[in-house]
Amino acid sequence: MKIAIMGAMPEEIEPLLEYFGDYKSEKVAGNTYYTTKYKDLDLVIAYSKIGKVFASLTAATMIEKFKAKKLLFSGVAGAINPKLNIGDLVVATKLCQHDLDISAFGHPFGYVPEGSVFVESDKELLKISKDVAKDLNIPLQEGIIATGDQFVADEKRKEWISKTFKADALEMEGASVAVVCEALDVPFFILRAISDSADMDAGFNFEEFLESSAKNSAKFIIHMLDILAKK
Ligand code: ADE
Repeated sequence: MKIAIMGAMPEEIEPLLEYFGDYKSEKVAGNTYYTTKYKDLDLVIAYSKIGKVFASLTAATMIEKFKAKKLLFSGVAGAINPKLNIGDLVVATKLCQHDLDISAFGHPFGYVPEGSVFVESDKELLKISKDVAKDLNIPLQEGIIATGDQFVADEKRKEWISKTFKADALEMEGASVAVVCEALDVPFFILRAISDSADMDAGFNFEEFLESSAKNSAKFIIHMLDILAKK
């Protein structure tokens, strides 16, 4: 089975490339796609660049050109839920776009006609992640992830996203990947490790913890592959 693993930034996929060691690379539409084999799985790995548009392009390319049958996203996020601390893992049960706004026409935030506010993650991949967390004795928080083309470093914006979407964490790609995967009928899984709390200090914390948190997320993804390889 072909599995896509994507991140948004180089730091989010480097731990994976380092782990697999031996891979081929191919450039498509301005991004590099790395292919390798792990156990009986064929993998395609790439970072998209930051934001919803680039993430959508990468997800669609992994599915349409590389024929990925499942997509796993690994990366970092800002915490909204105060229970989430730097380094903690959070997996999206569903995702929304916090910056999608046609409320002027009476629609809810995050909604456009023929779409939905939330896109739900694949239940089987969620179950695998729970099993992995249990096996490794690692806390894994499930929650709602809100996505937008905005690095949030502001208590007021964070509060608004929290109140409007009941979101637990926020980032800049997950929901767009979810929309692409749902449209193309590919099961997806969005994992994030917390790098900051989307507050005044978010910029500093992000720079300090991006690498270590991205590694936490990538390590967990590798354990998920071990289970997927057995299926
Ligand atoms: N990814 C990690 N931290 C973030 C933040 N504060 N805002 C948006 N995306 C993020």
